[in-house]
Amino acid sequence: MELVVATRNKDKLREIKALLKSFPVKVFSLDSFKGVPEIMEDGKTLEDNAIKKAVQVSKFLKKFAVADDSGLEVEYLDGDPGVYSARFSGKGATYKSNNEKLLRLLRGVPLVRRKACFKCVIAAADKGRVIGIAEGVCNGKISFVSKGDNGFGYDPVFIPDGCKKTFAEMDPAWKNKISHRSKALVKAKKIISKYLSLYL
Ligand code: IMP
Repeated sequence: MELVVATRNKDKLREIKALLKSFPVKVFSLDSFKGVPEIMEDGKTLEDNAIKKAVQVSKFLKKFAVADDSGLEVEYLDGDPGVYSARFSGKGATYKSNNEKLLRLLRGVPLVRRKACFKCVIAAADKGRVIGIAEGVCNGKISFVSKGDNGFGYDPVFIPDGCKKTFAEMDPAWKNKISHRSKALVKAKKIISKYLSLYL
């Protein structure tokens, strides 16, 4: 069984591939196909964007596809950057500039008010039809400084609850045990397995 992951983000793909290692599907990303149109992530929620990507890609390629839309919600910032996590620091935003902006906005804010959570929504679709949606959440807090070289995105500034290290300081295998993405994928795998056994 072939599964297209509707992303060109190599960091996400690396994690998703590791999380699907023992799942009986061959994983492809959009880089394996020519001519897939760019999809505007202009939804108001992570779910809107995940559905849009999964539906459009599965329709265009006439294949089974999953899409991950994820983001960081910071309590002190009323849930920002949320669905705008990738573009938090504006046009040309990088992981570094986003983290710098976040730490700047939280300067002087004590640890108890630095609560945040990562959310990941995974949508699965077959030939343009939504099969199911899965969500995973990882609670934690924003560190005072950026630390660690593993992972991607906001990993250097996010300390998951129950841990002393940021995601970026952890062994990637450990992040994959507790992350929002792994929680969403556990649910997504159930949806996919059921669909495959019932309809294929
Ligand atoms: P999108 O899902 O492609 O819209 O990207 C969401 C953005 O959220 C990424 O560019 C990252 O900055 C951030 N993000 C999503 N998941 C993670 C994660 O697991 N670790 C760190 N940052 C993440």
